[in-house]
Amino acid sequence: MRIDLLNLFPEMFAGAFEHSIIKRACQKGLLQIALTDIRDYATDKHRSVDDRPYGGGSGMVMMCGPVFDAIEDIARQDGPVDEVILLTPQGRPFDQQTAKELAQKQRIVLIAGHYEGFDERIREHLPTKEISIGDYVLSGGEIPAMVVVDAVTRLIPGVLGDEYSSVEESFSESLLEYPHYTRPAEFRGWTVPEILLSGNHQEIKKWRQEQAHKRTHRRRPDLLEDKKDVED
Ligand SMILES: C[S@@+](CC[C@H](N)C(=O)[O-])C[C@H]1O[C@@H](n2cnc3c(N)ncnc32)[C@H](O)[C@@H]1O
Repeated sequence: MRIDLLNLFPEMFAGAFEHSIIKRACQKGLLQIALTDIRDYATDKHRSVDDRPYGGGSGMVMMCGPVFDAIEDIARQDGPVDEVILLTPQGRPFDQQTAKELAQKQRIVLIAGHYEGFDERIREHLPTKEISIGDYVLSGGEIPAMVVVDAVTRLIPGVLGDEYSSVEESFSESLLEYPHYTRPAEFRGWTVPEILLSGNHQEIKKWRQEQAHKRTHRRRPDLLEDKKDVED
């Protein structure tokens, strides 16, 4: 899979993408990340990508020209793009289902905004989806882009060593994941549930399923289709 990131601060991504699972996915050839600085498509000597809003008001607005030119240029250079995504607090809330859908694509483009946001004509005339990572406003789209890239990368087949690690994770079946424990079996008098030490894999599986349901019921009942069947 290839992910293109259109943004204004490419240097912000170095730390996030040069470690752990994303780095390994790139090394294995399962993921390619291409960073494009929208300023490279500015047309004045100041490399401006924003301007004052028509109608007045505070802040600056990202201009159409550099964004359209950047998208059209990268699409021309490297073959078809399956999805162009605008990162904006006004978009569809990002969730595991959206991450799964994106992980099926060959190539996506994420556009990270800044300032007051995008000229509305970008939204209207670029064939984009809009994604929000939550109901709060960040200063720029770089961190949302990192969130999307990370969540999607985990779901690209072959990225996680153990195929089951992502299948059992929170949200994969509209459930939060069951609790985990590791050694020691007793820490400061707090013990690990007996069942996990029993070696009875069938009973452990059952216990984990029950715990996942109870936890989801307690913390996120909105995720459960049938909330009434589950008792705490
Ligand atoms: C300061 S925000 C602009 C917010 C805009 N004035 C509004 O009220 O909707 C600047 C940029 O950060 C990114 N951003 C901020 N919060 C975000 C969120 N929750 N999800 C996705 N992107 C976000 C977007 O790319 C946005 O264009």
